Amino acid sequence: MCGIVGYIGKQNTTKILLDGLKELEYRGYDSAGIALLNKEKIDVFKALGKLSNLEEKVQKATLSEYSIGIGHTRWATHGKPTELNAHPHLGEFSYVVHNGIIENYKEIKDELIQKGHKFVSQTDTEVIVHLFENYYNLCNDEDKAFKQTIERLEGAFSILLITKANIEKIFFFKHGSPLIIARGNEEGEVLFASSDAPLIGLANDVVYLEDGVGGIATASNIEFFSDNYSWSTLPTSKQFAQKDGFRFFMEKEIYEQSNVVSDCMLGRIQDEEILFDEIDSSIIEGINEIKICACGTSYHAGLTASYLFERLAKVRCNVVIASEFRYKEPLLTKDTLFIVISQSGETADTLEALKMAKNAGLKTLVVCNVDNSSMTRLADHTILTRAGIEKGVASTKAFSTQTVVLWMLSLYFAKQNDKISKETLQKEIHALREVPKSLIVSDKMHEKTKRLSKRYLHGHGFFFIGRDVFFPLALEGALKLKEISYLHAEGYPAGEMKHGPIALADPELFTIALMPENLLYDKIKSNVEELSARDSTICTISPLEFELSDDFIKTQKTDHYMLEFFEMLVVLQLLSMEISVRLGNDVDMPRNLAKSVTVE
Ligand code: F6R
Repeated sequence: MCGIVGYIGKQNTTKILLDGLKELEYRGYDSAGIALLNKEKIDVFKALGKLSNLEEKVQKATLSEYSIGIGHTRWATHGKPTELNAHPHLGEFSYVVHNGIIENYKEIKDELIQKGHKFVSQTDTEVIVHLFENYYNLCNDEDKAFKQTIERLEGAFSILLITKANIEKIFFFKHGSPLIIARGNEEGEVLFASSDAPLIGLANDVVYLEDGVGGIATASNIEFFSDNYSWSTLPTSKQFAQKDGFRFFMEKEIYEQSNVVSDCMLGRIQDEEILFDEIDSSIIEGINEIKICACGTSYHAGLTASYLFERLAKVRCNVVIASEFRYKEPLLTKDTLFIVISQSGETADTLEALKMAKNAGLKTLVVCNVDNSSMTRLADHTILTRAGIEKGVASTKAFSTQTVVLWMLSLYFAKQNDKISKETLQKEIHALREVPKSLIVSDKMHEKTKRLSKRYLHGHGFFFIGRDVFFPLALEGALKLKEISYLHAEGYPAGEMKHGPIALADPELFTIALMPENLLYDKIKSNVEELSARDSTICTISPLEFELSDDFIKTQKTDHYMLEFFEMLVVLQLLSMEISVRLGNDVDMPRNLAKSVTVE
């Protein structure tokens, strides 16, 4: 989500850090900062918003020569995007940049405040640098202090730390978020970055750090705390590097889902209950109904959530497409919580729906991926999905993180309203924790969708069918296919086919059937049998083999339908992408579409 860079060497440190951050800016642009160190002093520059604001600030300053520096571009998770919350974070004599979330930061912060440490930001990151200084003050040994710091932290934390206690060292550690260390092309140079792109042209030899690996770098030596590392050669193409080696941003973003969903859940699932820093129980007080408004893929996440809100939280939930909501003269009452869902936070129809709800005096909440967007500024409450920037026009990781946030929210409301038993809550939370695993793309699954894609290039259309939450998932599968393959596809509730659409069934009609084992399996099975009897070509996605399938994509056996939901989501995304590739389309920038629809 955030971007990290670091440099030791004799070249222009400031320029190298700023150039590096430019390559990472697409990962987050709430704020950026650099800390630069030489024998005499540390200089720190931070600026809100785009990197150009930081560059402007740096240009105006009188700079010295620095032999060490670290930098960061931020996508807010804990604490609003403000200059104080921007990285690098400082203690008395040390600076840190961090990507991830420190889960036990509250406990550490309280402890350090007791000991007299002064905190200036609302971030979790700031505890790292204070913890380091606390240990250093006790032992007067910076290496030992860094190791003790790492041992104490919980959560995800890829970090670079510099300190006046020893101005030749960068301390590094990788856990959760990516971090690369490189030997520069010039003698005595060491570079760090959270992805390949900033390093290209400056270095050839790199270590892609594994989780749990850290160390200490100086101009003459890189010391690793363990043997679990190996040097490799950096790719040479920047385009390739920005996509982390994937062919398309969409592909990269499908593969990223497992990680970003972990980020999305970090700190929000604790000791068998759901916590959101952003809201408190007053949000649901006096609420008898939830109304959700959104467009496109975000609408599908809302539709999925409506099943979960009613099933788990026992609260009435309606979902309306934002462009429909605007002109239907909706009846709005103050016992309704109005939720809008948007990746960008800028979609014109959704924004207008939000304004209408606000004007009617309703409590409003936005589930959004972009902090400081129009919707997050307008809504009473915001829950960020933490998916990182989504570049592919066809939305993927935005949907999975939105769905996870809404599932967590339904459990939060269920608990607040005392509508869920302890056992059910535990079962749901257990399943939530397993979602990142369900989103992992296996080679086998990707290969299978590649192979199958060639059979689905022609014909007169696709029906994606499912029941319950698998109906919105079917809608999402159909939308993905339409937008990047330009083939006609419809998502339909499986039980509704016989009320009309089944008339279309023949071998040229492709049915993609979502058949979860844990939810209404027998019902959907009969619906698929009906289609098969009318000669539709059937591709089933299920953990259970089905004798009438023409094609079968096997998913894993699990004990919760939502885990099946997420694995099937990945299958549908890959299938539409591979069909699009075979048809020679532009996967990342499909015709006629824009990433953010800011006009009505
Ligand atoms: C489909 C897609 C669109 C968006 C829709 C809403 O892949 O990306 O359907 O979901 O335009 O956009 P946001 O979520 O930004 O409001």
